[in-house]
Amino acid sequence: MAIRRVFAAAITALLLLELGSACSNGACKVGDDCSSGSDCGPGLYCLSCEVEGSKCVRTTATNQFSLLNNSLPFNKYAFLTTHNAFAIEDGQPRLTFTNQEDNITQQLNDGVRALMLDIYDFEGDIWLCHSFGGQCYDYTKFEPAINTLREIEAFMSRNPSEIVTIILEDYVKTPKGLTKVFTNAGLMKYWFPLSKMPKNGDGDDGMKDKCFNRGESSVLSDTSKSLILVNYFRSVPMKLLACVENSVALADMLHTCHAAAGNRWANFVAVDYYKRSKGGGAFEATDLLNGELLCGCNDVHSCVVSSFISEWCKMYTLVRNMLEEKPSEIKSINM
Ligand SMILES: *[C@@H]1O[C@H](CO)[C@@H](O)[C@H](O)[C@H]1NC(C)=O
Ligand SMILES: *[C@@H]1O[C@H](CO)[C@@H](O)[C@H](O)[C@H]1NC(C)=O
Repeated sequence: MAIRRVFAAAITALLLLELGSACSNGACKVGDDCSSGSDCGPGLYCLSCEVEGSKCVRTTATNQFSLLNNSLPFNKYAFLTTHNAFAIEDGQPRLTFTNQEDNITQQLNDGVRALMLDIYDFEGDIWLCHSFGGQCYDYTKFEPAINTLREIEAFMSRNPSEIVTIILEDYVKTPKGLTKVFTNAGLMKYWFPLSKMPKNGDGDDGMKDKCFNRGESSVLSDTSKSLILVNYFRSVPMKLLACVENSVALADMLHTCHAAAGNRWANFVAVDYYKRSKGGGAFEATDLLNGELLCGCNDVHSCVVSSFISEWCKMYTLVRNMLEEKPSEIKSINM
């Protein structure tokens, strides 16, 4: 009798599992269906990805420095990068597109560690702006640069051991314009000396099915360049597509660019709407890069667990590197 009841309960439990139903109250994991934020576990929120219903998706990056050896050269790490980090939906009327939903402070708190900023002379000051023909206009401007740089300074003073990379598209012609605005924002004390920087980065040319280098960059397979940036965004951002595009397609492109860059993994992965995905999104993509860069596993978390899996992928990578013609190690700065 009792046994039969246990048996029935087990079958019911199996059926529930089979239906994949009902996680709630913070028990839902990455990629699970959800109806509100309270369904999802820590570090997740419930995002309606229009075509496929709502799912619990990641909102924060893994801190690779606290997981693993933090004293390797700069180009041994990967960083989540926001394209047009300043072009935020803030309710101001403009005649131009936005690329992000969260402000700079929020982006940094979520673990974004590289910010792409387009910077212009405008109204006697330095502004962050979209442009037509290299010109900032009243209806395409976002913020005086000083406001955004002060947000970065505030984050740095709260988190002095963090590393934030600023990637500028620079249209400023005012003499010493950039130096002044960075000094006034209090950022110079965090500045990494330019003389110690690796010379020139490589960049690829957006979301094509191949991994092209940008016209102004050197070819991706040029191993004399030590840093690799993968741009993964549309010329005109499409918010509704971002949750699909920032998922499997992004990881696929990182593999494509790895091959195009002479079997080297990217250091920066730049996206629009960094929090939109069907699960792990751009955060998982960054974990993939850090895992591959740091231990040859496809997830940085596998580098720390002492398990069969991590040993296996380290071994696999060792053998793969021996079989592939491994590009010579590139000397870079030590942090
Ligand atoms: C971290 O890596 C550096 C460079 O390879 C090495 O010298 C150092 O011993 C490592 N530290 C730890 C704690 O593994
Ligand atoms: C940034 O966004 C967060 C969360 O929405 C908000 O609490 C904070 O006040 C904002 N900060 C700035 C500087 O705009």
